Amino acid sequence: MSSDGVNSTRRKFLTAATSAVGVAGVVGVAVPFVGSWNPSAKAKAAGAPVKFDFSKLEPGQMTVVEWRGQPVYVVNRTDTQLAALPGLDAQLKDPNSENAAQQPLYITGVERSIKPHILVIVGLCTHLGCAPKFVPEVGVANLGGASWVGGFFVPAMVPSSIYPVGFMQACRPRPTC
Ligand code: FES
Repeated sequence: MSSDGVNSTRRKFLTAATSAVGVAGVVGVAVPFVGSWNPSAKAKAAGAPVKFDFSKLEPGQMTVVEWRGQPVYVVNRTDTQLAALPGLDAQLKDPNSENAAQQPLYITGVERSIKPHILVIVGLCTHLGCAPKFVPEVGVANLGGASWVGGFFVPAMVPSSIYPVGFMQACRPRPTC
């Protein structure tokens, strides 16, 4: 007990107890608050890498896999389709995949893929994001006949939107799009 009648031990105890309760309160609020910054299980699942077994795809076949809510086209290109690619360089903005702003550095060359036969691209057009149609047949009459070597076709852009298997280029919008 001090000279002014104040119980300093009790005061110290009360101060410590109050501080401890205060700290517990802050921790009790901070932990769930910081925890709420973590992505939800749904968000984690949406951003997670997607596994796909390429061996299921026959040459010339395409399948669509969903990744981050977007359609991803996976194509098993035939040797004929691969052989046709260099002949289309004049139509491409970046035929040899040199624009580092558009693909990872490990992607080079006309095939634009790690395994030349396997093409993996986001299945949305570069205009307003419609889904190009896959037409692997060569020489389709209403898609340009002999100049059609198989690829992706954007109905909204006919005839300026015919893309061989392996790339999508900046398209010119038709008045209706
Ligand atoms: S939105 Fe795809 S071509 Fe216009």
